[in-house]
Amino acid sequence: MHRKSKITILTGAGISAESGLGTFRDRNGLWTQVNIEDVATPEAFARDPAKVHAFYNMRRANAADASPNAAHHALTKLQNDWPGDVVLITQNVDGLHERAGSEVLHMHGQLDRALCAACGHRWDAPRVMDPQDPCPDCARPATRPDIVWFGEMPYHMEEIAEHLRDCDLFAAIGTSGAVYPAAGFCAEAAMAGAETVELNLAESDVSASFGQRIEGPASSAVPDWVAGLLAGR
Ligand code: APR
Repeated sequence: MHRKSKITILTGAGISAESGLGTFRDRNGLWTQVNIEDVATPEAFARDPAKVHAFYNMRRANAADASPNAAHHALTKLQNDWPGDVVLITQNVDGLHERAGSEVLHMHGQLDRALCAACGHRWDAPRVMDPQDPCPDCARPATRPDIVWFGEMPYHMEEIAEHLRDCDLFAAIGTSGAVYPAAGFCAEAAMAGAETVELNLAESDVSASFGQRIEGPASSAVPDWVAGLLAGR
């Protein structure tokens, strides 16, 4: 890797697993405990906003109690010390990358943000949200978590497409490759000529798309990988 190269990184729930936050599709994962259709679609919110808010209130409290782990801190070190650009995109809705000091693009939204389903206003979410909360802007009781639900368009997709087109290295960390468009990012970057590497505890659904794979827990594999890049290995 030339030291002026641009690195684009995508992270998933696996990078926060060792911070105590559950993943979705591993054993006892979130989607083995709750049905996506009940809590993570616009239809679910229309049908039972209280149930949806309760689910995200629980996740918001868990995320607030969690701390960044060595993998989050290693990516901040890479952003600070790598001479070229390092763009960090996450599917995660926890704030652990920011709390580790990273600049990050949240393509699936954030637990710490709220959105008014009526007027589109966004603000910092209170710890506990309730369907009766009035929107601070239009005062209508239409507040929802600022989370991208299944069937909705992820955020920052144009900017992300550019970061996939012009990077020299694409890395995916702790993601199963089960959900598009994120699962297609590796192929997109590779088509534009990037080297690709997957860091994961196990094989993902898209491991075959990657030029290199590093297997192991993120809290040790990511710091080692970052140290290697910074040492010019
Ligand atoms: N270190 C590295 N990788 C890990 C670790 C760990 N300690 N623990 C688990 N993993 C890996 C698993 O092997 C798996 O590939 O993390 C991945 C978790 O996969 P998912 O649970 O599917 O999470 P993710 O890929 O982030 O899901 C993508 O799906 O439900 C939607 O919007 C949600 O953003 C989420 C998207």
